[in-house]
Amino acid sequence: MAPSVLVRPGTLADAETLIRVGYAAYRDDHITHAKFPEHLRRKYGMTEEMAWRLRTMKRALAAEDGDQAEKKKKTAHVVVAVLRSGEGDDEREDVAGWAIWREPAQPNAKPGASAPEKEKKDEDELPPSMDKEVAARFDAAMVALARRHLGETYDQEYWMLQVLAVDPKFHRRGVGKALVQWGVEHAFRAGRDVQLTASPAGRLLYLSQGFEVVAEETHHGAVCSLMVKRRKRDGD
Ligand SMILES: CC(C)(COP(=O)(O)OP(=O)(O)OC[C@H]1O[C@@H](n2cnc3c(N)ncnc32)[C@H](O)[C@@H]1OP(=O)(O)O)[C@@H](O)C(=O)NCCC(=O)NCCS
Repeated sequence: MAPSVLVRPGTLADAETLIRVGYAAYRDDHITHAKFPEHLRRKYGMTEEMAWRLRTMKRALAAEDGDQAEKKKKTAHVVVAVLRSGEGDDEREDVAGWAIWREPAQPNAKPGASAPEKEKKDEDELPPSMDKEVAARFDAAMVALARRHLGETYDQEYWMLQVLAVDPKFHRRGVGKALVQWGVEHAFRAGRDVQLTASPAGRLLYLSQGFEVVAEETHHGAVCSLMVKRRKRDGD
């Protein structure tokens, strides 16, 4: 049987696995290395960083696991891709990747108030291996890029792919594509277009999925591509 990819909501039980997959996926990512430079990781070690990643992930997953009232308010979706392979006794399931998709912010929220603004609340808990100034500057640059090209209230209009991580062991098996399709389908069903900022690795995947590049900027040696996928309008 050819491996098949199943996309499902993440649960609290996935937290450790998702951190491991995320760490492996972003191992060679330039922006991750700028935000968590080698000299700080060497000086402070990885313990606090991993604990912070786990805390943040558990918080996102707790909302996913929440009761109906919580779910109604929830605008971030942690989705997990499971790769199924083999048959009978050889059947196995591997958590191969995950994504965080964000619905548009409420109209009364400040522009840009979704991801980076929200993360500021965690500022006092940020790990010592993070270069906080670099991280804040980069996040602000990405918000400014999106505002410039998609409008001041872009985050009230578009669904956004915030994180996409696929375990390198499972690259090129359609896992990233399945996680992208999940969000695009949900956004389009809700009558919304989709936007994201792509890493060089992600850019090729999004192009293959019909996204177009709106603008590009180079940061820390990596081309960051603002990309959108728009639903078909009448007359298209
Ligand atoms: C980008 C990433 C998510 C792709 O995941 P993936 O599961 O390997 O991608 P898929 O197998 O679904 O790829 C679907 C299509 O995208 C394109 N594609 C994906 N990776 C590619 C690569 N390295 N080179 C060329 N094309 C690529 C291909 O068209 C591919 O179809 P094909 O395999 O039939 O040719 C993965 O490489 C990753 O986690 N990278 C590190 C983290 C990261 O940069 N995330 C994106 C943040 S914006």
